[in-house]
Amino acid sequence: MDGFFTNTEAVKNTHKSVEWYTPAWVFEALGLEFDLDPSSPHDMETVVPASKKYTIFDDGLKKPWFGRVWLNPPYGKDTPMWIRRMIDHGEGIALVFSRTDAAWCQEAMTACTSMLFVAGRINFVPGRENQHKKSRSGAGTVMFAFGEACAGALKKMSDRGVYLECDRQSEKLHSLI
Ligand SMILES: C[S@@+](CC[C@H](N)C(=O)[O-])C[C@H]1O[C@@H](n2cnc3c(N)ncnc32)[C@H](O)[C@@H]1O
Repeated sequence: MDGFFTNTEAVKNTHKSVEWYTPAWVFEALGLEFDLDPSSPHDMETVVPASKKYTIFDDGLKKPWFGRVWLNPPYGKDTPMWIRRMIDHGEGIALVFSRTDAAWCQEAMTACTSMLFVAGRINFVPGRENQHKKSRSGAGTVMFAFGEACAGALKKMSDRGVYLECDRQSEKLHSLI
């Protein structure tokens, strides 16, 4: 009951700006199915093709991650934790704002198998709270692939932006952060 209360409070305190969801064309372009979406809305079905979804009531950061993971995390102060969890997990695709100066983004750029800097701004799908709003991304999007299968799928989207394979210079780059 304690955990339920805490998570109910968390829902109230969650900024509405996180309730924007990945549009279907992204998954059509990737042509991949996922085993897990660890950050999914609690009050609406998404088009994410994942067989298991965690919501804020589960707290996807505390639950086990398995298989091929799709990650479009809640943005904000917790973004680094979600991205670092994905880096540790090592299999899946993460879609995040392209904040190339941030330490978490630099870590992902050096730990991923490949990445795609998407051209233009993605129109995200509004959640219940944002139905009346137009999607206005505050930044561009980068997608990180972890693992060869995911990198292969991301490469199929390379006409959507700038696709780069990681040259694994992580040790060198980490020393700059
Ligand atoms: C940017 S949306 C992306 C939703 C979905 N993953 C997608 O790609 O369309 C992030 C979602 O994470 C949910 N969320 C926030 N905190 C969470 C947590 N601790 N555990 C699981 N989900 C959470 C939010 O409610 C929101 O629906």
